[in-house]
Amino acid sequence: MSNELANVEQSLSQGYAEQALADAEAALTNRPDWPRAHMLAASAASRLGRVEEARRHLVICRDTLQHMPENVGAHMTIAGLYTAIEDFQDALEILEPLSKRVGDSPDVLDAIAVNMHQADRIEEAVGVYKKLLDLEPENLNIHHNICAALLAIGKAKQAATYASRWLKIAPGDTEALSFRAVALEEAGSFSAAAALMDFDKLVSAEVVEPPAGFGSIATFNTSLEIAILSHPDLKTPPEDSPHYHDPALRITDQILGPKTGPIADLESVIRKEVEAYYLKRSKPKNHPFVNARPQDYDLVAWAAVLDRQGNQDAHIHFDGHLSGCYYVRIPEEVSSDENGEAGVVAGGFEVGRPPPEFGCQREHRHRVIKPEEGMIVLFPSYMYHQTIPFESKQRRICVAFNVMPR
Ligand SMILES: [Fe+2]
Repeated sequence: MSNELANVEQSLSQGYAEQALADAEAALTNRPDWPRAHMLAASAASRLGRVEEARRHLVICRDTLQHMPENVGAHMTIAGLYTAIEDFQDALEILEPLSKRVGDSPDVLDAIAVNMHQADRIEEAVGVYKKLLDLEPENLNIHHNICAALLAIGKAKQAATYASRWLKIAPGDTEALSFRAVALEEAGSFSAAAALMDFDKLVSAEVVEPPAGFGSIATFNTSLEIAILSHPDLKTPPEDSPHYHDPALRITDQILGPKTGPIADLESVIRKEVEAYYLKRSKPKNHPFVNARPQDYDLVAWAAVLDRQGNQDAHIHFDGHLSGCYYVRIPEEVSSDENGEAGVVAGGFEVGRPPPEFGCQREHRHRVIKPEEGMIVLFPSYMYHQTIPFESKQRRICVAFNVMPR
C-alpha cells in the first residue's frame, strides 16, 4: 500500500479521524477514483459524525463492489460502514445479495440479522437469528439478540423459551436469567416468573452492626464518608461514559483494596453479609441462581456521591452474580417517616421492573425498599433495579458492589 494510505490507516487506528480524513481527501485529489481512499475517508467521516460526507464516499465504494461480487471482506467492510452511519437498509442491499451468492456464512448472516433488527425488520431478523443459532448454538450474542428481538415484537413466550436454551449453554448467566424473568412475566407465566423474582427469598435489606472499633453505625458512616469524599478517584464520569447520569453524580472506580481504615472495614462488612446471604440461600437446589453460586469470587465496589436530586434508570449488573448497595448517607427527605405515605418512596431502591425500552405491556412485579443509613441491600445481579427519583439539597452517598465469579 502507498505511504499516503498507510498514514491514513495509522491515524485512524490511533483515533485521529480528523487527520485521517484530511489525508484521505488529499490522496483523492491526485487519484479521485481510488476505492481504498474513499473507504478510509468514509470510515473517518463516520467516526466524526459527518454522515453526509461518509455517504458520498460510500456511494463510490459501493460501485466498486460489482467488480468483486464474491469478495466477502470488501462487502462486509462497506456494509459495516453503512451500519455505522445507521443506513441499515443500504447495508442490507449489499449483504442480502451477497448471502445469496456465497451461501450461509455466519458472519454475513449475523450482519444481516443485526441490520434487519435495527431497520425494524424484526420478524425477519428473528428468522435469521434462528438460522444462526443452528450454525453457532453456543454463540451467546445470538442468544441475546434473539431474546431481545422476540421481546420487542411481543413474542414473550418464545423469548422465554430461547432464554431457557441460552441458560442450557450458559447456566446461571446473569443476562439470560434477566431476559427469562422479564419474558415469563410478560408472557403471563406468573408462577415461573415468581420463582425467579422471589423478592422474599432472594432480596435482603438490613442495617448492619458497626465494625469493631466503632461505637455506632453513625460514627462508622462518618469515617466512611470522609474516606469516600477524599478518594482520589471520585469524579463525574465523562458524558459519553455508560456510568454518566448527571453532573451532580460523582463515582469512584474500585474502592476496595486498603488493608486498614474504614474502607477495609466496609469490605469486611460486605464479605460477612455476602457469606451470610449465600449460607441462608443454599436452597432450593434446582434454582438457577442458587445453583450458579460462585465458589470463588472477587468483590468489586464503587462509591457514588450525589449532591442534588437524582434517579437512575433500571439496569442489571452484567458482571455480577450477586449485587448490593451499602447506604452511607441518606437525605432526610428520603429517610423521613412521611416518605412513602403518599404511595411513592422518593429515593427508594426499586427492584423488579424492567426498563421502558423493553416495551412491556404488563405491570411487572416489583418491590421498593426505603434506604436507611447503615443498610445493606443484596439482590441477584439479574434483577432490574433503579432509584426512584427524589429531590434534596442534602448529599446521598452509597457504595454499590458486585460479587464477581472468578
Ligand atoms: Fe445498580
